[in-house]
Amino acid sequence: MAMRWRDDGFRYGALTRLLHWGTVLLLAWQFTGMGVKLIVGKAPITAFWVGTHKSVGTVLLLVILIRALWGLYNMKTRPAHGGGFWGLAAKAGHLVLYVLMLIVPALALLRQYGSGKPMEFFGLPFIQGGGAETSWMTAPANAAHGLLAWVLLAAIGGHVLMVLVHRYVWKDDTTRRMMG
Ligand code: HEM
Ligand code: HEM
Repeated sequence: MAMRWRDDGFRYGALTRLLHWGTVLLLAWQFTGMGVKLIVGKAPITAFWVGTHKSVGTVLLLVILIRALWGLYNMKTRPAHGGGFWGLAAKAGHLVLYVLMLIVPALALLRQYGSGKPMEFFGLPFIQGGGAETSWMTAPANAAHGLLAWVLLAAIGGHVLMVLVHRYVWKDDTTRRMMG
C-alpha cells in the first residue's frame, strides 16, 4: 500500500515525514559542525563545516516555516496524543521544539541583517550589507543564539528519549506513526 500524502488520524503522511526527517538531517549538520568547531578547533574541516553554517541555517528556517504551516494546516487530522498528563506533555514538548527551531535561526538572521555586513547564500549574494550596525538587531542573537541552540539540542535529546520509552518500555505504537 502506497504511503498517504496527507496525515490521517493514525499516522503521519509522506510530506510530514519528509519534513521531519529533512529537519533532522539539517539540524544534525548544524550541531555536528559546531561540535567539531568546539572539539577540533581551528582546522580545515572546521573552516569548511562552519563555512556552511549560515547557508544551511537559512535553508533550515525556510524548511521549518513550511513545516510549521503544514502542521497548523493538518492540526485536526494528525494522530491524537490524548488528554492525560503524557498527552499534554507530548503536545507541550512538540510546541517547545517548534518555538526553538524557529527562534534560533530567526535571531541569527536578524543579527546578520543588522550587522551591516554582507552575507552569501551558498556563494550567491544574499544580504548586501554596507550599513552601520543596528544594535537592537544584533543584541538578541549575541545574547542567545548559541545558548538557545544548545537548549534546542537538549530538547531534542528529551524527544529521542521519549521515542525510546515508547518503543522499548511502554511498547506502544506511537513511534510507528512517524517511522513504520
Ligand atoms: C536552526 C538553525 C541553526 C542552529 C541549530 C544553529 C546552531 C548554532 C550553534 C550550536 C552554535 C554554537 C554556539 C556556541 O559556540 O556555543 C552557533 C553559532 C553561530 N551561529 Fe548558528 N545555528 C543555526 C542557524 C544560524 C543562522 C541562520 C546563522 C546566520 C545567518 C547562524 C550564525 C551563527 C553564528 C555567527 C555563530 C557564532 C556566534 C554565536 O555563537 O552566536 N546560525 N549556531
Ligand atoms: C532534530 C531532531 C528532531 C526534531 C526537532 C523533532 C521534532 C518532532 C516534532 C515537532 C514532532 C511532532 C510531529 C510534527 O510536528 O512533525 C515529532 C514527532 C516524532 N518524532 Fe521527532 N524530531 C527529531 C528527531 C527525531 C528522531 C531522531 C526520532 C527517532 C529516533 C524521532 C521520532 C519521532 C516520532 C516517532 C514522532 C511521532 C511521535 C508522536 O506522534 O507523538 N524524532 N518530532
